[in-house]
Amino acid sequence: MDVLETLREAFQKRYGAPPETVCFAPGRVNLIGEHTDYNGGHVFPCALSLGTWCAARRRTDGTVRLATLNIPRSGVLRHPLGYRAKPGSRCWSRYPEGVVNAFRHAGFSIPTGMDLLFYGNIPSGSGLSSSASMEVVTGAVLRVLYDLHVSRVRLAQLGQYAENVYVGVQCGIMDQFASAMGRRGHAIYLDTATLRFEYAPLHLSDCQIVVCNSRVKHSLASSEYNLRRSQCETALAALRTVREDLPALGALTPEEFEAMSDAIPDPVCRKRARHAVYENARTKLALEALRADRLEDFGRLMNESHVSLRDDYAVSCPELDLLTELAWTTEGVVGSRMTGGGFGGCTVSIVKSRALERFQTELGRVYRERTGLEPEFYVVEPGDGVRRLV
Ligand code: GLA
Repeated sequence: MDVLETLREAFQKRYGAPPETVCFAPGRVNLIGEHTDYNGGHVFPCALSLGTWCAARRRTDGTVRLATLNIPRSGVLRHPLGYRAKPGSRCWSRYPEGVVNAFRHAGFSIPTGMDLLFYGNIPSGSGLSSSASMEVVTGAVLRVLYDLHVSRVRLAQLGQYAENVYVGVQCGIMDQFASAMGRRGHAIYLDTATLRFEYAPLHLSDCQIVVCNSRVKHSLASSEYNLRRSQCETALAALRTVREDLPALGALTPEEFEAMSDAIPDPVCRKRARHAVYENARTKLALEALRADRLEDFGRLMNESHVSLRDDYAVSCPELDLLTELAWTTEGVVGSRMTGGGFGGCTVSIVKSRALERFQTELGRVYRERTGLEPEFYVVEPGDGVRRLV
């Protein structure tokens, strides 16, 4: 039985009536441009075919019921409309409830409660944006249920708002944007300063994009993430003492940055800013390389991105470093880096099709031997963004 049928049946069973709508929103993998999206820089993600489904129905009272097939034992949660989880709560429902609150905060009319049932096939904590896909799919069902005029870009922004305000992670727009705006066979080159974007066809000739899950859950991620963001803000404030009108780190070329970086007194903040600036430059070069079919250059930029995330930004971990180092020395690998927020999660690699099998078995074997962890591999099919299925 496919996911849609399973979800509809389960919905009927849990809530005693069929869903009015079912929507789907994908996760994402970022090819390059990491930790640039809250620095006014560029990102280059593509949407996955993995993601989160949500079946939904309006109620006549003000109750919101929520359940997920991923945690069957969690049963059906029941909260009043407008409910806000206590600070520090780890409950999964703070993502969809955050989105409901974000819509209401933005002035959208949500006059009744609702029944929601979720299912997702992105491994949680893998850095492939299971939370963003849950936020975006929640926005999509609200749009259908209450007939709201919300563009897909706005869906992404409301998802980000929910994550910032109700979940407490000061994330940028990349994940929700990719989930909302993805296009099959394409990556999205997005300028996060202006939200201008273009779709770049992923003609990788004889290569594939492979995601490798280290199986280390990025548990440190939210506190360290917020810390990185504030270090970048400190660096920006220091740079503004020499250039008052500097809008963001992403507005600087590496040369401009080098000429003024002494203005950042704290060496740690200086390193964080250096990553943000150089990573943005690499992302621009990566788009050019892809357009010109210079895949080797694209791969080299990916490798440099990893080194910078490891050394200047300090968001990698030994397992991600091991996976990338193994990939770099494997024949047929064009490039490899950690992807997403870091501290665990996945790497993304570009691998020649003929080397794919060996890549998986060899990397898998050595990684298992050295860490005792069983890595998981996914060959990525860049997919479409959020959509209504029913
Ligand atoms: C997480 C955040 C994104 C982005 C990445 C790092 O996935 O949600 O906004 O900052 O980390 O590039």
